[in-house]
Amino acid sequence: MRMPLFARGLLSSLLLLSPTISAASQTKPFSAYDAEAKELLAQMTLEEKVGQMIQPDFASMRDKTDIQRYYLGSVLMGGGSDPQAGNNLQAWTDVYDHAQGMALKTRLGIPLLFGVDAVHGHSNVLGAVIFPHNIGLGCTNNPDLVEKIARITALETRATGIQWTFAPCVTVVRDERWGRTYEGFSEEPKIASVLGAAAVRGLQGSDLSDPLSIAACAKHYIADGGTVPISSMGRRGGQAGDNRNFGGTARATRSGVRIRLNAGDVPIDEETLRRIHLPPYIDAVNAGVATIMPSYSSWNGVKCTASKRLLTEILKEELGFQGFLISDYSAISMIDRSDYKGSIATAINAGIDMGMVPNRYAEFFNNLQQLVEEGTVPMSRIDDAVTRILRVKCVMGLLDKGRSQLADRSRWSKFGSDEHRAVARDAVRQSLVLLKNENKTLPLAKSAARIHVGGKSADDIGNQCGGWTVEWQGRSGDVTTGGTTILAAIKNTVSANTEVTFAADGTGGAGATVGVVIVGERPYAEGNGDDGDLELDEADVAAIDNMKAAGIPVVVILISGRPMVVTDAIEKADAFIAAWLPGTEGQGVADVLFGDYKPSGKLSFSWPRSVDQLPINVGDENYDPLFAFGYGLRY
Ligand code: BGC
Repeated sequence: MRMPLFARGLLSSLLLLSPTISAASQTKPFSAYDAEAKELLAQMTLEEKVGQMIQPDFASMRDKTDIQRYYLGSVLMGGGSDPQAGNNLQAWTDVYDHAQGMALKTRLGIPLLFGVDAVHGHSNVLGAVIFPHNIGLGCTNNPDLVEKIARITALETRATGIQWTFAPCVTVVRDERWGRTYEGFSEEPKIASVLGAAAVRGLQGSDLSDPLSIAACAKHYIADGGTVPISSMGRRGGQAGDNRNFGGTARATRSGVRIRLNAGDVPIDEETLRRIHLPPYIDAVNAGVATIMPSYSSWNGVKCTASKRLLTEILKEELGFQGFLISDYSAISMIDRSDYKGSIATAINAGIDMGMVPNRYAEFFNNLQQLVEEGTVPMSRIDDAVTRILRVKCVMGLLDKGRSQLADRSRWSKFGSDEHRAVARDAVRQSLVLLKNENKTLPLAKSAARIHVGGKSADDIGNQCGGWTVEWQGRSGDVTTGGTTILAAIKNTVSANTEVTFAADGTGGAGATVGVVIVGERPYAEGNGDDGDLELDEADVAAIDNMKAAGIPVVVILISGRPMVVTDAIEKADAFIAAWLPGTEGQGVADVLFGDYKPSGKLSFSWPRSVDQLPINVGDENYDPLFAFGYGLRY
């Protein structure tokens, strides 16, 4: 029998240490800039103040002069929002400069904060280095590496002028059926806390005013990874173009298990919430995180975006968070779909400081002013929100006179550089977890006569990178920045006399020295990845069977955003590697395969044995995973 969530929380707390206190990334606290921010605030009209609190999606703004018309404080380019001129370094930099140039021409000339989801590298931009998604980094459990990756992400992001990323995701994932599992480092708070704080330090640098630092955003506050499944859901409406996260129907999976976890409810008491889901935020705040994004999900039926308890009392008053809160994409519209104005009042009064309102910004602008004039939202709340936003801008040097706020194009030279790719390759090899290795199948000999490679993900950069890569959902195939597929990496590594053959369906292996099959999930993001059974598809099973039928030793490499229910495949394989979503640098996989790097990754998630075990977490009563949290073989 499974333990109730509350009891499970108690048990797992015994496994945890208290949150780490990390060195703050900016030298002075945000409040040290209070006087400067207030001086500017005193010059602002209500319109200008409200404008600072608005962040539309630049790509969906029909008239870009709206930046001036509404005195906007920020814009974003959400996943899949590409520059009209195409997806390349120059077009992205031009978009940044275009938007910033507009803001600089407003009466007060307050620069914009420009936000993107640089969540595993500057991952929207073609040519950027794509690092492993957080789940792989969780298995490295290496804060220095995570900090280094975040630093590079900041440099590549700044190369386009952009100074804010909606990262790190510090979720504690308690159900691997959730489509955002790979965005999290671990099912355990400790790893999420330590690595989350490391990412904040890397992104923000030792000083946020450094033009090579970018503002971080810890997300999604709180317990986004703690939702319970809703088995059937109808379609949820929304404004045209504003419906990216308004749900959709629960997905029927191969075994017919329908499930919906994304943006759901978290029915747990406050003590459990604090023990399991709060620690990463404590560490992020201590590390000086500039912004935090509340979750779409609800806590005991109340949406996080609407919860004064969570946003104001716990985060700002108790933890002393001095940065600002940015609502998630259209999350305000989701509070009460029939009453936008009321939803704005609820969100702002709960503590939201800036609204991510992709295309309802004009409505937001008018409604919020009315709400202030009517007395529904107190002026003091507006002043607090704007002060928080301006303080972050002050800390970042955005308000420094004489400092150019346009992109510094000399930074392009480092974008997607070999130096950055080398760090990503190192991250890949550290993130791989060796789950099985019979008869010393691995490491493979570089001088093997013939290596036969199979599986749909052997030669697929898109599958390797997963969601949030170039497009919001990611895409299979040759869609991303250069990079090296695993097949190419194997070819690069073997001796001149070794023959490498390939058949996606795994056939044709007879006579080879060894077979390597690379299978797993195709890219997805958010609710589209909610999956009730986590089993391999038929083509993957067939590819493994075909390879096996050749009577040769078989190595299976799983590309996936989470542990999957692959007990049969593991049994069939002689060696099995969980490679997660490694990104563009497939050479790191070959480093492990051929023994140039000895596997060191350890599971930051429990590995389930069967579908009916899902979800499974360390500390569960009758904990009986196929591989326990922390497992990982070496050579
Ligand atoms: C996601 C966030 C993301 C935002 C902006 C939302 O759909 O939940 O994680 O930062 O979009 O793209």
